[in-house]
Amino acid sequence: MKHDIENREDIILLVNTFYTRVKNDKTIGYIFEEVANVNWDNHLPKMYSFWSSLLLGEHSYAGNPMAIHMELSKLTTMTEKEFAAWLFLFTQTVDSLFAGNKATEAKERGANIARLMLYKIESM
Ligand code: HEM
Repeated sequence: MKHDIENREDIILLVNTFYTRVKNDKTIGYIFEEVANVNWDNHLPKMYSFWSSLLLGEHSYAGNPMAIHMELSKLTTMTEKEFAAWLFLFTQTVDSLFAGNKATEAKERGANIARLMLYKIESM
């Protein structure tokens, strides 16, 4: 039976699984691999901290994701279609691994941040 997101190991599994899927996604994979040319050794630990801070109260992430994605949107297409693909993959990944209140919270937080990012990008 699936359990809830409870600790950093769970976050690491969630993030690793999500970005493996992201890299292979036909709608947004190229933004990571070709546009931003992401250094995964840097990006993944940052994302462990981001999600551990949001869901486990870790306070280990310091950054400005809104500004970073607004800059990114100047280099590539970041519309409703790309955010819908991101959210679909994120929701699917959470559901494939976990079930419970934190899992639900992760999906809600992801959806809210995605909506806000898209709104900010559209208002630029
Ligand atoms: C179309 C949707 C999205 C795309 C294409 C995208 C792409 C990217 C890329 C290319 C980076 C930069 C990685 C690097 O250069 O190191 C990044 C960083 C990041 N993304 Fe996204 N992203 C998307 C949506 C989101 C959403 C919805 C969230 C939050 C729920 C999010 C959270 C982050 C965070 C926290 C970082 C690290 C920022 C930092 O350096 O501190 N992203 N994203």
